[in-house]
Amino acid sequence: MTNPYNVAVIGAGPAGIFGARELAHQGARVALFNRDIKPGGLAEYGIYLDKYHMKNGLRKQFSGTLALPNLDYYGNVTVGANGDLTLDDLRALGFQAILVTVGAQGTKWLGLPGEDLEGVYHAKDVVYFYNHLPPYSQQSFRFGNRCAVIGAGNVMLDIAHFLARVKKVDEVIAIVRRGPVEVKFAKKEMEYVIDNLDKAALDEEIKRVAPIMQAVHQDPQAGRATILEALPHALPKTSATRFRFVFLASPVQMLGENGRLTHVEIEDNTLVEKDGEIKAKGAGNKRRLDVETVIFAIGDKVDESFGLPVEWNEFVKNPNPRFPIDGHSYESPFEDVFVGGWSRKASSGLVGVARKDGINSAKAVWGYLQTKQPAETNADALSEKLKGLGKRVVLREDIKKLEATELAEARKRGMEEFKFDNNDDMLNAMGLI
Ligand SMILES: Cc1cc2nc3c(=O)[nH]c(=O)nc-3n(C[C@H](O)[C@H](O)[C@H](O)COP(=O)(O)OP(=O)(O)OC[C@H]3O[C@@H](n4cnc5c(N)ncnc54)[C@H](O)[C@@H]3O)c2cc1C
Ligand SMILES: NC(=O)c1ccc[n+]([C@@H]2O[C@H](COP(=O)([O-])OP(=O)(O)OC[C@H]3O[C@@H](n4cnc5c(N)ncnc54)[C@H](OP(=O)(O)O)[C@@H]3O)[C@@H](O)[C@H]2O)c1
Repeated sequence: MTNPYNVAVIGAGPAGIFGARELAHQGARVALFNRDIKPGGLAEYGIYLDKYHMKNGLRKQFSGTLALPNLDYYGNVTVGANGDLTLDDLRALGFQAILVTVGAQGTKWLGLPGEDLEGVYHAKDVVYFYNHLPPYSQQSFRFGNRCAVIGAGNVMLDIAHFLARVKKVDEVIAIVRRGPVEVKFAKKEMEYVIDNLDKAALDEEIKRVAPIMQAVHQDPQAGRATILEALPHALPKTSATRFRFVFLASPVQMLGENGRLTHVEIEDNTLVEKDGEIKAKGAGNKRRLDVETVIFAIGDKVDESFGLPVEWNEFVKNPNPRFPIDGHSYESPFEDVFVGGWSRKASSGLVGVARKDGINSAKAVWGYLQTKQPAETNADALSEKLKGLGKRVVLREDIKKLEATELAEARKRGMEEFKFDNNDDMLNAMGLI
């Protein structure tokens, strides 16, 4: 292709990589910018530690995309209003469209008293920490003996898995605002922790919440069965951690001494039917749980500092898209800026969903480009701009070196996987410093 369209894709998670691949296959020249040195996003730094098979399969697909001749990878480059490059920088360099697939990097704080205490964290930070993503990998977390995790999704279970099987804490309490019928986690993920589950405590808890469930025509025993569905495939526990659920409760404040968390105060909820949905509603009664750690696993929001308008947890989309795909708008309020993956819909779905959304967002971008004449980017100007950043920019050939070094290191140490957990070690392994 002698005179292709030029597109910048921001963020090399599953949505960005598969979106970039779609655009490259269409014939566009694609520059893929990524905050992290390594590509993969949450597929590299979110998927649970020992899911090697899944991660390796995805890595293979990612490196196949990075090898495309009309795609350039620029890792260790942050784009955004406060980033190494702004959206206007990219426009000035000649990019005709910008696809934003930066995931959901913001934190959904609830504004509760005590959120700043040591021992209170958000799941994303914890997950990035144990998956060795700098700079989170360098931060210290206080995982006490008694830990509460707020939420009932797969992220809550990943955290419970880590606390029970790696940290081997005394107790993990999942605090769930609705009931056992509304949990969102998958049976498969429960298999890792169900042997740690205190079944007697579950029965007590189901008995406690049964009248509230029955008042909205729910069957408490069906809820119990949902929680216990994974039992036949339980993995034998590796610790004495006691895992238990507190249903129908929301945190209202965290309390501490000398800046460190000592208790979480929760308010009991009741269930109400509203617009055909079952919702949690505070019932007034408050009680305190003695915990040293609280981790919010309640989903994330997009990064408000990125420079695109945000409403609730998401970047604002054009409600009347010119290039809708499957009935969705992938368009920001700026005609040349598109959003895909968790940047379009925060904390939504598995890698396969992000992949499809990335491809769909690329289709919307391609539709837009058809209304323009192809134009060259200023490759020299981009290269100068990147040189002037005062940091090492990581290219696809560097990633290959890093992967080979990490693989050799894993073999040497007899490990399934080895990851350098700071940028200097990674840059050093690639010969960039
Ligand atoms: C803890 C956890 C575990 C999960 N486990 C599984 C699982 O086992 N199986 C499964 O199928 N799905 C799993 N998922 C879901 C899956 O990870 C997501 O669906 C998917 O990664 C979302 O893809 P994305 O590309 O939209 O965002 P992300 O994966 O978050 O990728 C975003 C990318 O953008 C980059 N970026 C961010 N900000 C900027 C910026 N300003 N400039 C440049 N680049 C930027 C980041 O470096 C990152 O590479 C898990 C999710 C979580 C949170
Ligand atoms: N192993 C895996 O396959 C894996 C691992 C991790 C993540 N993922 C995927 O990644 C996506 C995100 O997962 P997730 O666990 O972050 O999200 P999720 O599945 O949406 O679960 C979020 C949980 O937080 C609760 N919650 C939300 N806001 C709350 C609030 N203000 N107060 C109290 N509780 C609140 C929700 O309760 P309500 O239901 O009441 O809203 C829900 O139980 C999902 O699609 C998940 O399947 C997959």
